[in-house]
Amino acid sequence: MSGSIVLFGPPGAGKGTQAGRITVLTGKPWVSTGDMLRAAVAAGSELGTEAKGYMDAGLLVPDGIIIGLIVERLQHDDASSGVLLDGYPRTIPQAEALSEVAVVSTVISIEVSDDAIVERIVGRRMDPETGGIYHVSFNPPPPEVSGRLIQREDDNEQTVRNRLSAYHEQTAPLAEWYAQMGLLISINGNASIDEVGMAIEEALSGAL
Ligand code: AP5
Repeated sequence: MSGSIVLFGPPGAGKGTQAGRITVLTGKPWVSTGDMLRAAVAAGSELGTEAKGYMDAGLLVPDGIIIGLIVERLQHDDASSGVLLDGYPRTIPQAEALSEVAVVSTVISIEVSDDAIVERIVGRRMDPETGGIYHVSFNPPPPEVSGRLIQREDDNEQTVRNRLSAYHEQTAPLAEWYAQMGLLISINGNASIDEVGMAIEEALSGAL
């Protein structure tokens, strides 16, 4: 499949969890704006310092910052046949900017109810060494990694509620935008990790 794939959905829908499987299936590199921003925060860069306040509050980082970041990333050699975008675009201006530098071939929208989102995010644990994503109940970590797991600073109930508001107000309208272009494929995310993965695989196999 030529072009880029957008993984779309609310915070905690399971975008990161499914991304590994999709990169194996398609060979497209996984580009996560959340991971890029967290790396900038950890590095203490100017961009990271500016973004941190928005991320901690559960607000979207301003378009001017995020668009520059993604446009630069898409110029790398490994992006020439398209990438798997996780967490971008999140506003119409971001989508418009993307359309100027890349061709979007498919948008996979993982749909999950708000109540399930809160439960997923509050129970999420991350492995800083491998990037592995776990959940205390739904995807328990193996004992050998348990000791090193961390919880993201924005994975608390208050911040999740803010992230959900930002999603409904600023990001959800993009689904209609992409639907009108005939690019949106909706996946029921209120199912097990494997079931969601298989549904995505089936949807993509029609497009590959
Ligand atoms: P980002 O890192 O992109 O966070 P997000 O969109 O809020 O998404 P998450 O990473 O929280 O969730 P996910 O969908 O990947 O779910 P996961 O697979 O981990 O962004 C963070 C912040 O950066 C934003 O708030 C914003 O400030 C800023 N930002 C980033 N991009 C931006 C942009 N483009 N514009 C502006 N600002 C931007 O799964 C979650 C949990 O659920 C895990 O514990 C997992 O094990 C579990 N789980 C997954 N699937 C299932 C399932 N099917 N059943 C049960 N549990 C499941």
